[in-house]
Amino acid sequence: MCGIVGYVGPEASEKAIDVVMDGLGRLEYRGYDSAGVALVTDGTVVTEKRAGKLTNLRSALAAHPPADSATAIGHTRWATHGGPTDANAHPHRGGADGKLALVHNGIIENFHALKAALLADGAVFTSETDTEVVAHLLDRAYCRTGDLTDAMREVVERLHGAFTLLAVHADSPHTVVGARRNSPLVVGLGEGENFLGSDVAAFIGYTRHAMELGQDQIVTITPDTCSVIDFDGTPSDGKAYEVTWDAAAAEKGGYATFMEKEIHDQPHAVRDTLFGRTDETGRLVLDEMSITEDELRSVTKIVIVACGTAAYAGMVAKYAIERWTRLPVEVELAHEFRYRDPVIDHQTLVVSISQSGETMDTLMAVRHATHLGARTVSICNTHGSTIPRESDAVLYTHAGPEIAVASTKAFLAQITASYILGLYLAQLRGGEYGKVAAEVLTELHGIPDKIEALLGSMDRVEEIAYFMSDTRSVLFLGRHVGFPVAMEGALKLKELAYIHAEGFAAGELKHGPIALIEPGQPVFIVVPSPSSEHGLHGKVVSNIQEIRARGARTLVIAEEGDEDVVPFADEVIRVPHTSPLLAPLLTVVPLQVFALHLSTAKGLDVDQPRNLAKSVTVE
Ligand code: F6R
Repeated sequence: MCGIVGYVGPEASEKAIDVVMDGLGRLEYRGYDSAGVALVTDGTVVTEKRAGKLTNLRSALAAHPPADSATAIGHTRWATHGGPTDANAHPHRGGADGKLALVHNGIIENFHALKAALLADGAVFTSETDTEVVAHLLDRAYCRTGDLTDAMREVVERLHGAFTLLAVHADSPHTVVGARRNSPLVVGLGEGENFLGSDVAAFIGYTRHAMELGQDQIVTITPDTCSVIDFDGTPSDGKAYEVTWDAAAAEKGGYATFMEKEIHDQPHAVRDTLFGRTDETGRLVLDEMSITEDELRSVTKIVIVACGTAAYAGMVAKYAIERWTRLPVEVELAHEFRYRDPVIDHQTLVVSISQSGETMDTLMAVRHATHLGARTVSICNTHGSTIPRESDAVLYTHAGPEIAVASTKAFLAQITASYILGLYLAQLRGGEYGKVAAEVLTELHGIPDKIEALLGSMDRVEEIAYFMSDTRSVLFLGRHVGFPVAMEGALKLKELAYIHAEGFAAGELKHGPIALIEPGQPVFIVVPSPSSEHGLHGKVVSNIQEIRARGARTLVIAEEGDEDVVPFADEVIRVPHTSPLLAPLLTVVPLQVFALHLSTAKGLDVDQPRNLAKSVTVE
């Protein structure tokens, strides 16, 4: 939810402020309603913090440049406790001498009780945040122990909830201490300098050597050392790994926005997610799948848990996995799954889908599934994040860093990975669809070129978006795998253009939603391929006629060569031919492009839409 950076460099280094501001720039997508830094310098800790986007903090620092420093922490916030004001922005200080500063991501659930005790003991608070409570506790613990790591150990024992904490103290000028519970924190290992970040983007400009931290761990970095202990004080080894992408991947690469760049990254995202998953005979081999083949063969039901866009990827996956494995697949919003006593046992495979791997609702669903005895697989884009770490197996998507808040390339990579999982299960189970796995894979390998071609033909979609910049409401219809695509198209528009948008199953139209159709109402219709089974294509063409007859403005997404739609379409947006189950990898693209340009036409911030943050690490 918030972005956190920490840095310790060599004694004579002056670059702490640059490293931390650079990291905050890369993490701003995690939250952007206020930001701040704390620098350890000349026996004191100096803080600067500002409400609003990072640019406000940059201006403040430019107006009052801080003294040189080798040690700093920084924070970009998505407000939970206390509005986005200068006072509530992090870092927070504890104690009267102002020697300690702390940043925090997450929620301290028992902060009321802790605050009451601190107030009774004379503590003075300057913000409405839960974080300031921790700063006071840590300052008191430091005064007792004289050691920031020991102080952190004492304090985390008293906290309930989810947190990543980073702290510096003026009396330990070459040390940053971090702690994590249910909230992300990774280490960047440099030469004579070390880094901490909510994710590797925080330090990717400086090092690609990273180290995962486990749940309930404390890390202490100095310029030359990095030590990790569990909350109970037991020493631990973090798991080091190399980040497979570089700083350029986290930059706009000549595009006006990250979202536009990420839409254009999609051919790569699909290609890279497919890459290296087959052996020389063409059979799928999933190296990361640490559940045994026998266990997977004994699965009797699959439940997919996810939120938002990832849940729509799960809905697409349901159609494909059921078809290929003949196993029943349920898709459930992760936050609903946990609270409804789901029927799960050791033969249930629970598949979580998450770009960030840190979405709290999804993490809690995975934990619940584990508790009920299910086996868990995570489809995830973020190496070493909490959800894959806590799952029995992981299938990484290789979309590269997704910085724009609205998910695009991760969606396509999630669908691709879930197809791979479905085909792998089909291959293990044998039967009719085990045999077609190779055929489907061959077709999947052709999809990136088709996306590329499609992206080259989006001029008309861009024009339509500009013409529609004052539209108040847009509806989206789809059927079969086109239904989740319609929902995703509506979600993108809500998020980016702040207008009413709803996705419906086309078959549901006459059961109620058709009442919304009035003259001029724009409706996107995702038309299935004419090659679809059960006459689906004809049924959706009838739906187009029904709404057109009532005055709707029909914006039809249809396969090349599908002439049946033409008489009833105000606009036809063509997508290349593909077999019906794979079509979402193409049909969603014009809807992403439409939302991007409508938002741009309205002059909105495409990458950082209001009220949102990239990863939702609170329930
Ligand atoms: C929509 C969007 C969100 C996320 C959802 C899950 O554009 O980005 O709906 O898809 O918050 O996030 P992850 O995939 O990180 O679990």
